[in-house]
Amino acid sequence: MSVYVLEFIDCRMLWNLLGITVLCVITWLYYRWTCVRQYWAKRGVPHLPPHPVMGSLTFLQRQNPATWMINIYKQFKSPYVGAWMFWRPALIINSPELARNILVKDFAFFRDRFLSSGSSDPIGSLNLFTVNDPLWSTVRKRLTGVFTASKLRALQNLVDLKSSQLLQRIRNAEDNTKLNLRAIYTDYTTDIIGTAAFGVETNATLTGVDPMRTVTQAFTTFDLYRGLCWSSIFFFPELVDIFRFSLFPKWSIDYFKKVFKIASEHRNDKRTPGDSKDLLDALLKLMDEGAKSNEGITEDVVIAQAAIFLFGGFESTSSIMSVCSYELSFHPEKQDRLYEELIAVKNQSENGHLEISKLADCQYLNAVMKESLRKYSPMGWLDRIADKDYKIDENLTISAGTPVYVNSIGMQYDEEFFHEPEKFIPERFLPENVGNIKPFTFMPFGEGPRSCIGKRFGQISLRHAMANLILNYKFEALPGAKKPSEIKFEKRGLFLVPGQELYIKFIPRS
Ligand code: HEM
Repeated sequence: MSVYVLEFIDCRMLWNLLGITVLCVITWLYYRWTCVRQYWAKRGVPHLPPHPVMGSLTFLQRQNPATWMINIYKQFKSPYVGAWMFWRPALIINSPELARNILVKDFAFFRDRFLSSGSSDPIGSLNLFTVNDPLWSTVRKRLTGVFTASKLRALQNLVDLKSSQLLQRIRNAEDNTKLNLRAIYTDYTTDIIGTAAFGVETNATLTGVDPMRTVTQAFTTFDLYRGLCWSSIFFFPELVDIFRFSLFPKWSIDYFKKVFKIASEHRNDKRTPGDSKDLLDALLKLMDEGAKSNEGITEDVVIAQAAIFLFGGFESTSSIMSVCSYELSFHPEKQDRLYEELIAVKNQSENGHLEISKLADCQYLNAVMKESLRKYSPMGWLDRIADKDYKIDENLTISAGTPVYVNSIGMQYDEEFFHEPEKFIPERFLPENVGNIKPFTFMPFGEGPRSCIGKRFGQISLRHAMANLILNYKFEALPGAKKPSEIKFEKRGLFLVPGQELYIKFIPRS
């Protein structure tokens, strides 16, 4: 046989082999897809049909995940709903009883979150929010003490200074109706958390610019690449290491490291051993202890905590301040009630000074904060992963490795738990009504051992700024302004924060 004939046969065999391989791959994919598609149906769990690639994640970049969660809740009215993170089955929990089991009672099964930031990004992956046990327990145990009410009173001077600078910023504005609420409030929260966690003096509240503010600005800017990083970290962690995605922009990590080094050297000169007055002190103590123990507390672990304090706190707090001011601008009668309460506290205090502990006792102020958090929880779903097979109820056992999302925002919008949920009604949180709120239906800071460590810190920053603003200004909605129910939320990010600029008129009180 000639060489040409042999080559022809070889070529045909190659094509046949390729054809068979492609056929096998398609058959395997089809078989896998059929199993995936039938996963929740076989278990009798209600669900929406999954997309062949995205699973249930077709809303990504098109709708805020919290809005999606509210819709799923309303659509099914079922204690749980099946979903898919791409092809991975996940369970959405819509019931307060099941939420309690997962977050508190059976916490031993759900110690970790599903999300993960991968090993190529130590600052993104070693912080409290992303890290898994056992490092999570070690760090959480050591840092919890600094977030107690008594320790956080040390924030008094800082919140006094920054609140007065916020008032000054509004006073100095040529036209205060042009102040973008989210921007000025993020300046304030960046200063408060940046200073407390990194020990550097920042000046964003007064000026709107600061190197630390450049970092928080970058955190809130979502382009396609960051959208991809975040979607992978939250919903497809296996891709994170392959593509070396990171939670924080890479350049900001170098900035954190530099700032933390300078601040720690400066602070170490003045520090009394064992003493921890603020977050930075607590972090330096963690570093000292880490050097002596072999629990894996490296310098990166410590810097990762400073970074997550900033990241976890600045946007959530400033977003609540924005929506709270905006809602109040549409409710003058609620502002008046708030003002009456606050002026009484101010008049009773020495030199008209607003003490952190006195504001913590203001019932109406707290009710206004809680109602803002109910309607606009920045993180409306609580992410966990089952460590072992887990019996949800008599009918359903989920396998180890199944992601579980407690749909807290869905419950916060349920008519059965909160009448007229679309309306802003702080009165529902007043002591005489709070008994009507069913446990585990209001969880803006999460619940259980893995709930928000910075809850008190966030509340102090919120209350102090809002009290000072209300005492000095009336908020008025601008002519033709969109109603609060028409606010557009961020579609590209994953947290429930306004996706548009919000403006009001600040009218000085005489
Ligand atoms: C209005 C303000 C805030 C809101 C609404 C909020 C909300 C939340 C929520 C819902 C979680 C998840 C809880 C869970 O899964 O059960 C969380 C976790 C966390 N938050 Fe906050 N947060 C706020 C402010 C802060 C502040 C000011 C800090 C830091 C100073 C902070 C640091 C953290 C950290 C480190 C975690 C992870 C905790 C862990 O897994 O152990 N947050 N937050």
